[in-house]
Amino acid sequence: MCGIIGCAGVRDTVPGLIEGLRRLEYRGYDSAGIAVLNGDGLERRRVKGKVRDLAEEIRRHPITGACGIGHTRWATHGRPSEDNAHPHTDCSGTIALLHNGIVENYWSLKEKLLAEGHVFKTETDTEVIVHLVEKHFHGSLEEALRAAVKELEGAFAVACISSRDPGKIVAARNGPPVVVGFGSGESFLSSDITPLLAHTRRVAYLGDGEIAVLEPSGVRFATFAGAPVEKTAETIDWEPAMIEKRGFEHFMAKEIFEQADVVRDTLKSRVSLDSGQVFLDDLGIAPDVFREVSRVVLIACGTSYHAGLVGKYLLETLGHVPVDVEYASELRSRDFAMDRETLVLGISQSGETADTLAALRLAREKARAVLAVTNNTRSSMAREADGVLDLHAGPEIGVAATKTFVGQMAALALFALAFAQARGALGEEASRTLVQELQRVPLKMDRVLGGAAAIERAARRFLDCEHYLFLGRWINFPIALEGALKLKEISYTHAEGYAGGEMKHGPIALIDEGMTTLAIVPHDRVYEKMLSNIAEVKARNGRILAVAFEGDERARAAAEEVFPIPETHQLFTPFLTVLPLQLFAYYAASAKGFDVDQPRNLAKSVTVE
Ligand code: M6R
Repeated sequence: MCGIIGCAGVRDTVPGLIEGLRRLEYRGYDSAGIAVLNGDGLERRRVKGKVRDLAEEIRRHPITGACGIGHTRWATHGRPSEDNAHPHTDCSGTIALLHNGIVENYWSLKEKLLAEGHVFKTETDTEVIVHLVEKHFHGSLEEALRAAVKELEGAFAVACISSRDPGKIVAARNGPPVVVGFGSGESFLSSDITPLLAHTRRVAYLGDGEIAVLEPSGVRFATFAGAPVEKTAETIDWEPAMIEKRGFEHFMAKEIFEQADVVRDTLKSRVSLDSGQVFLDDLGIAPDVFREVSRVVLIACGTSYHAGLVGKYLLETLGHVPVDVEYASELRSRDFAMDRETLVLGISQSGETADTLAALRLAREKARAVLAVTNNTRSSMAREADGVLDLHAGPEIGVAATKTFVGQMAALALFALAFAQARGALGEEASRTLVQELQRVPLKMDRVLGGAAAIERAARRFLDCEHYLFLGRWINFPIALEGALKLKEISYTHAEGYAGGEMKHGPIALIDEGMTTLAIVPHDRVYEKMLSNIAEVKARNGRILAVAFEGDERARAAAEEVFPIPETHQLFTPFLTVLPLQLFAYYAASAKGFDVDQPRNLAKSVTVE
């Protein structure tokens, strides 16, 4: 939800700001802008559209400056337009400010500021902040921002510059992330670390209720109340090459084809093939906790919620424990019972999703322990949780989650095994069989990905189909939901995910020759029932695609096209069944010419509620 960037240095910062915004564009991409300080005072360039449009605007109307801030927007208040694009300025045009988040009390603040004579030029909630900074400015930008944020309700990561207090950026955080980078003769800020890697590996995270003052010589931190805060720089070990496309046309394709390695990395050093033992030493909580709880609650949104559903089936089967999976946004509105015998896992690729973060904060007040299952061990969720289960998936740039979904399933499979072993629910022989098969899964995933060309052909053949029903049962029911979500998100095609058993309770009314059913039919405990679903669709002239085990003649006879997967343990089939569905969505969207990595209306990290 909006990307922010800034650099206080001594050389021209404009090319660096543009490059940084390109890396942050996954967070929002309906408009973009930058503001810089130079000999002419404060200058801005803003456009409706993408960062490439901003770069073109700057090529036509160049600006330079050694101190500047930039923003790529995902609209909340005010439609995407040049006027509503950040940074926003005060009445005098000497202060520029940008914001990620929502100012909940913006209307009452705006009424007050209007009555005081401030002139508003945009429809955004953000503009009240820059007028508040103007109101409180008496020579120090830091003091003015400190006074301004005290009046704000809601979530914000803000950064501002002023020609009346030049050479510095002042930033404040309450909610959305802000990372600060320490360069040599330059200081940086960003919504995440990826844009910083081109400049420095040394970073620190701004905490909630903190202000940072960035100057070329270094960064000072303080609380909103003004107390100094000491921070030690952390060193980031991500290689810049990890965020390049590596020859793929889209990040999403690169990330789909990396998925076997993600599972390998998630398993690395955490399993013993000889004993079948799983070691989650990096988790940060004692295994006693696993024995002491009587219930597990998994909390997440979107694709992470689907991974949570797979986790539920794994935990129920292996750990014999009652498991609830909850949408974070719903759980927050309910009177949800939780006690000291409840273990909570928050699942989030970004570790910053506002609803999940808020739900985990509620859970921390009641539950025995809260764990974060995340790809970002420096995220808010990771830092606030009692323990962290790291996905080791590397940066995911495509807005549609793929490799982090598989990483989440792998992490949850390890967790379920460790949980079951700690509780004595899983014997050594069974553990060994499962762990050895899990170790073989990445090779099998590579085999499925090797069949991508056939899936591309099928996606092109079905390009005219406007309605899809994804059906799966038991542990592949969540994969049906995920397959439908992927198709919706990037190819804008109507798709519904259903549990096979639910088909006859309503969705069957939709079946005709215009509806394609994508059935997930591995040879597992619900195989026969899924074949019955297929027969019911066929009897009503529906078209059928299927994901089935290699050599499954019954599936082949029933479906127009089968995407084959190698045999594996029935608990691990989701690692294989999800791959053809991701590829199908990817090839459909790319054949339609859509912006696969940045689908309309979406953002990678949803930091608004
Ligand atoms: O960062 P998170 O895993 O918390 O994000 C949750 C959802 O916003 C995310 O999975 C979303 O559904 C993606 N667009 C899925 O592709």
